[in-house]
Amino acid sequence: MTRTPVNVTVTGAAGQIGYALLFRIASGHLLGADVPVKLRLLEIPQGMKAAEGTAMELDDCAFPLLAGIDIFDDPNQGFDGANVALLVGARPRTKGMERGDLLAANGGIFKPQGQAINAHAADDIKVLVVGNPANTNALIAQAAAPDVPAERFTAMTRLDHNRAISQLAAKTGSAVSDIKRLTIWGNHSATQYPDIFHAEIAGKNAAEVVGDELWLSDTFIPTVAKRGAAIIEARGASSAASAANAAIDHVHTWVNGTAEGDWTSMGIPSDGSYGVPAGLISSFPVTCKDGKYEIVQGLDINEFSRTRIDASVQELSEERDAVRELGLI
Ligand code: NAD
Ligand code: LMR
Repeated sequence: MTRTPVNVTVTGAAGQIGYALLFRIASGHLLGADVPVKLRLLEIPQGMKAAEGTAMELDDCAFPLLAGIDIFDDPNQGFDGANVALLVGARPRTKGMERGDLLAANGGIFKPQGQAINAHAADDIKVLVVGNPANTNALIAQAAAPDVPAERFTAMTRLDHNRAISQLAAKTGSAVSDIKRLTIWGNHSATQYPDIFHAEIAGKNAAEVVGDELWLSDTFIPTVAKRGAAIIEARGASSAASAANAAIDHVHTWVNGTAEGDWTSMGIPSDGSYGVPAGLISSFPVTCKDGKYEIVQGLDINEFSRTRIDASVQELSEERDAVRELGLI
């Protein structure tokens, strides 16, 4: 092994997504089959023992790319030297909890983590927030890290992107690999907008191939947007392996690039493109190259799409106002 290992910090390492994620990071799926990694697992004190158990299992895999595992319950140590940080651990919504309560509880997690990243992470740190509400948690962490370029803080909508591709492939009887240029706009929530108007299926416009606006509005969009709730209903727990898979996809694409002629969806700080207020962490179509992403520009947004993008962005603005009032940003 000649390359210097990349330090990957994973929060919520003892949770269900953590369990599905860590083995794939250690086996080279996150960064590449030739990139050694050092894992830094961050948990709360109650999660430390389970994290130690997971670390024992990681040892038992004898992964050639795994150059070390350390476990912490202090964010300052957990993010020390981190090149990539996956912020998975979050406070789930519990019975009777209002949105404001949930945002406040998560502010207590993501603000100190942002501060620790600011103080201790490596200069090239890339952050993916998975823990919900992912976009606004990313905004809280980013606001707490003024010395880190804002664009390094991203939120996960890749699971929504993958879900949308899968639904579209099933509807049109096409292969997943034939579908390109699909976009998730807005928030990782039920207001998100999966957009197929610029998507292609084997080179043909996806909306024309589908040819059924009613299917779009009444079946496709709600199925994708409410898939997380449907999984919770069916499994009795929120998506874990598919969420971990999407986190792997998100970082792998960010680091290694999008394929020629294709793009992906990432929650990123808006630069004002497509009328999304600058600074909101909203999902956009992006291309990635050399470890950087760019918003795809110049897409025509029709009336159908505009209304839906605006509704999701409005929700993000309200979440931002709420965390601002709580003094979290
Ligand atoms: P989980 O409850 O199984 O695990 C969460 C883990 O985080 C626990 O082990 C807990 O101890 C730990 N944790 C809590 N606070 C922490 C802190 N301050 N520092 C470090 N660790 C901490 O939950 P899960 O199923 O793994 O899901 C994690 C989050 O991901 C949830 O918020 C869930 O809603 C979200 N999620 C997001 C997406 C997405 O597409 N963006 C998809 C699925 C799930
Ligand atoms: C998902 O999309 O599967 C999750 O964000 C659902 C959830 O609320 O944890």
